[in-house]
Amino acid sequence: MRAVPATPLASLHHSWLDRAPALGVLGLVLACSGRPAPPVATAPAPVAPGELRTPAAFDGIAERAARSQALFVEASRVLTHARCVNCHPPDEMPRQGDGHALHDPPVLRGEADRGIPALGCTTCHQDRNIELARVPGAPDWRLAPLKMAWLDRSPAAICGQLKDPARNGGRTLRQIRDHLAHDVLVGWAWQPGAGRAPAPGTQAELGALVQAWIDTGAVCPEEAKR
Ligand code: HEC
Ligand code: HEC
Repeated sequence: MRAVPATPLASLHHSWLDRAPALGVLGLVLACSGRPAPPVATAPAPVAPGELRTPAAFDGIAERAARSQALFVEASRVLTHARCVNCHPPDEMPRQGDGHALHDPPVLRGEADRGIPALGCTTCHQDRNIELARVPGAPDWRLAPLKMAWLDRSPAAICGQLKDPARNGGRTLRQIRDHLAHDVLVGWAWQPGAGRAPAPGTQAELGALVQAWIDTGAVCPEEAKR
């Protein structure tokens, strides 16, 4: 979704009111329009790249399904982040870095997503980041199963997968919310170590957005037209 500044009309309106010489003018304006202008905010205010909007930023979207879609698009700023998708590839190799480069040294997924017997993920990845060697770490470090592949997929596609028990590990929406809000591999994305860019916002803020998405009917965004 494009971040359209929501304020120009409102601020125009206010500065005009500030200059209005007398309350009589205000009365005239109110009489003409019937009631004060409704908030023009349908698009949420802009936000810095490293931050997440709160659910309240979407209150201006009156239609429930549209609000739900917008909440998911906001959450997908995390879901599509390199710190997440590097572990959710559609093939045999993890990725690394913000450009999703193939993992160096080359390693393979293996049968249980934990590497091959000669070279398991936890041979190198410990249960915490090792800063000097730049090796990221968190408990039970491994790849997401193939059917949970997200790399290079759109928010709409990821949304469809998230809601599909056949592709989300048999989870209910509530369990998806809990996984997003509390899982340690998910949480690593906000403390990735070695100067890596963290996912935007915080894990708790992601949990709140996803809860608000569920509360508004868990509607998936539409596929962007090309
Ligand atoms: C170190 C690798 C790793 C990282 C980093 C990682 N994941 Fe995962 N993810 C996994 C694994 C492994 C599973 C399967 C766990 C299971 O099903 O119990 C998984 C499963 C999931 C699931 C549940 C299944 C599904 O696809 O619906 C969600 C949701 C999820 N991850 C979200 C994220 C998000 C969001 C991030 C980043 C903030 C992230 N993951 C980062 C490895 C990772
Ligand atoms: C031989 C050691 C070694 C093995 C085995 C290994 N890794 Fe890595 N991995 C690394 C190192 C070192 C880095 C850091 C690369 C860098 O950023 O400079 C890394 C980085 C990563 C990253 C990048 C994080 C990011 O977002 O930039 C992911 C994801 C990852 N490994 C997953 C795995 C998985 C899953 C396995 C098992 C299938 C695995 N690795 C096996 C050494 C290893």
